[in-house]
Amino acid sequence: MIYGHFRKEFIWSTATASYQIEGGWRADGKGLSIWDKFAHTPLKVFNDDNGDIACDSYNKIDEDVAILKQLKVTHYRFFISWSRVLPDGTTSHINEAGLSYYDRLVKITLYHWDLPQALQDIGGWENDDIVGKFRDYADLIFSRLGHNVKHWITINEPYNIAMVGHGINFRPGTLPYIVGHNLIKAHAEVWHLYNDKYRAVQKGIISITINSDWSEPRNPYKQEDIDAARRVVQFYIGWFAHPIYNGDYSDVMKTIIRERSLAAGLTKSRLPEFTPDEIKRIKGTYDYFGFNHYTTVLFHWKKKNILGAGTVVDRTWLDSGSGWLKITPFGFRRILNFIKEEYGNPPIIITENGVSERGPIDLNDNHRTYHYEKYINQDNVDIRGYTAWSLMDNLEWATGFSERFGLFYVNHSDPNVPRVKKASVSTYSTIISCNGPCS
Ligand code: NOJ
Repeated sequence: MIYGHFRKEFIWSTATASYQIEGGWRADGKGLSIWDKFAHTPLKVFNDDNGDIACDSYNKIDEDVAILKQLKVTHYRFFISWSRVLPDGTTSHINEAGLSYYDRLVKITLYHWDLPQALQDIGGWENDDIVGKFRDYADLIFSRLGHNVKHWITINEPYNIAMVGHGINFRPGTLPYIVGHNLIKAHAEVWHLYNDKYRAVQKGIISITINSDWSEPRNPYKQEDIDAARRVVQFYIGWFAHPIYNGDYSDVMKTIIRERSLAAGLTKSRLPEFTPDEIKRIKGTYDYFGFNHYTTVLFHWKKKNILGAGTVVDRTWLDSGSGWLKITPFGFRRILNFIKEEYGNPPIIITENGVSERGPIDLNDNHRTYHYEKYINQDNVDIRGYTAWSLMDNLEWATGFSERFGLFYVNHSDPNVPRVKKASVSTYSTIISCNGPCS
């Protein structure tokens, strides 16, 4: 492979997610999702922003397709809102209007965080009935939309669903591990469903998308810092990747959770166990390594902390509009090599990467140009595709419209204003036309 350039059939993509862009929260029979409820609860989202209208993409498919063409991407990653298609989350009522909206688009993620509220009311991802319900939902989507789709993602960022959705921000304890367990089983069932029933005819590929920052040791010459940083990245990626790529949770994961559970006075580990049959069924349920990555965090050894690792800030790293995101392209190279080594050199599709800004609108987004030019590169890792997050400014979850990740600017106060390209649009389309860095 020539350094700096990608294979001929490289996937050049950009991404969005339904709750973040669609709006139409009650349009044509859509059901409520957990995000409709969350964002309508005062003080949950910055400025009390919500996705009722967002980028109005439910009504603006043509404009969205036009900006995709302007960007010259070869693929578009969007995701299906479960509650738009199945208002109460089950196949007992199919919302045809919702399905036909997606029928006009291609390349899809099945679950990007906005669970139907009706399923949350019966336990959501904590209740293992969700595995069958997710399978039914996927079955409907494959059968009705699969003829046009070649790349599927089952679940987006399971770590964040388990840890942020059900852990740190809400109730710490056992819950994230139960949720994580059900997410892995649900993913595996849907992979098998596609493999057994649809693959031969539809000829697509399907995987889960895992996210992780790179963990850099504060002192690269100190073994304890190196080990601490390593544990963090193994925990983040390995929680989900190890069962799927190698079978079962890793020993690192088992030991850490067990020790923490016993230290908290429990008699057994909070981490549930897979049965031997489940281990077999989960192992190998991937066609590519779907990976979302943004930034690097510095770690040093800290005995008291959960993973024996504490974070430190390097103030020389370039800032973005998000407190957690520093522009650190070197970490991208390192984490891709980590995946290559740890999981047997799988084909990797970068399913998200990008940068934000906040404050006054400035269409000259030099920091984004810099970001794409530095992050996008080839380093002898088997990368098959790259997805820029995001096509347009959208609702950045709990921080509302204040953090803007878009290549295109969206005026969220007035949905009638057309999307406007930022300077980085030409950077990204030039990289696409060169099929990698141009020089
Ligand atoms: C990951 C998520 O998949 C996406 O929804 C979010 O907007 C970006 N990261 C940026 O935080």
